Amino acid sequence: MVETILVRRGGGEPSRVVIGDALGELEELLPKGRRVIAVTDRNLVQCQGGLTGRFENIVIGLGERIKNLTTIERVCQELARMGADRESYIVGIGGGIVTDVAGFAASVYMRGMRFGFVATSLLAQVDASVGGKNGVNFDGYKNLVGTFNQPDFVICDAGLLATLPEREFRAGLAEIIKAGVIADASLFELFERHTLRDFLCDNDLLARAIIAAVRVKAQIVEWDEREAGDRRLLNLGHTFAHAVEKRSRRYVHGEAVAIGMALICAVSQKLCGLSANEAGRIVAVLRKMGLPTECNIPPEKLLSAVRLDKKRDQDAVNLILVNETGRCEVRRTPYSELPGLI
Ligand SMILES: NC(=O)c1ccc[n+]([C@@H]2O[C@H](COP(=O)([O-])OP(=O)(O)OC[C@H]3O[C@@H](n4cnc5c(N)ncnc54)[C@H](O)[C@@H]3O)[C@@H](O)[C@H]2O)c1
Ligand SMILES: [Zn+2]
Repeated sequence: MVETILVRRGGGEPSRVVIGDALGELEELLPKGRRVIAVTDRNLVQCQGGLTGRFENIVIGLGERIKNLTTIERVCQELARMGADRESYIVGIGGGIVTDVAGFAASVYMRGMRFGFVATSLLAQVDASVGGKNGVNFDGYKNLVGTFNQPDFVICDAGLLATLPEREFRAGLAEIIKAGVIADASLFELFERHTLRDFLCDNDLLARAIIAAVRVKAQIVEWDEREAGDRRLLNLGHTFAHAVEKRSRRYVHGEAVAIGMALICAVSQKLCGLSANEAGRIVAVLRKMGLPTECNIPPEKLLSAVRLDKKRDQDAVNLILVNETGRCEVRRTPYSELPGLI
């Protein structure tokens, strides 16, 4: 099964997100007769050498701490050393860190070269792949510096996930569940009907879930362009997730999102009448997929981290609240109201 979702981008051709047995389409998607340089990471060179080995490589390090301007500078230096020019083509092969770095470097080197992604982590396939945000961390803030620039294409091939560590796989599922809770109740129900093992073993089932999650994100990104929707909905669970990540190094991003979603369910019960039954369904699905739904960070430490995370707004935070699975709202909430909510 191969499905292509087109995401509008200002002016030119839409960005193509190709999902399913999609890797076979790569040759077709790359521009003919141009030099292709892959930006990738060490793990991918090791685990997916058959893919990365097809191109000249620029290999970046691992982990959130290397997602910074120094890495962008290094990639640009490598491009210059290789004699890359604006006719060269960048393909980012990796998880969300690689796609963020590759998209940013491609956007600024020689004032912009064309680029595409082969997303190799589940999180990158469902989240980092769509929306055109390419950012790096700066001055202690996540993704503070970057560009809006959509790739020509994103390949999301479930087969590439065979070498992804299971923990990273589960972390990606958290972002798919998030998409279901925001805007697609039937995607959410897929997780009630199936086990973690089903998603690990059945590539068609997984591709269906990826397609649905990409649709949710693509639709919200497009709505927002027309200013009829609200892109902030995509941050469901992320206000508290970023606080958890700031206070503890124990969790990978998707795990922090799962904890953040469980916390926001508790908050939504108090602020917008989410029923205990609906909150229970969401927490149960997260647990069933092997994700954490609580942490032992004291609430006051989490709340102070929420405040620290928001450089620009000192009075209130935009919380994404859950009305029911498949329907959420954005609510500006003064910090003074937060104590007692979690
Ligand atoms: N730009 C956006 O819109 C957007 C959206 C969501 C997340 N992000 C960013 O994405 C990053 C997180 O993405 P991530 O979880 O993919 O992180 P990541 O890129 O660090 O990948 C996770 C780990 O899995 C490894 N890996 C990836 N694919 C593999 C494969 N097929 N086989 C074996 N190992 C593999 C990587 O080497 C890494 O160690 C964060 O920095 C986040 O800010 C960006
Ligand atoms: Zn996220």
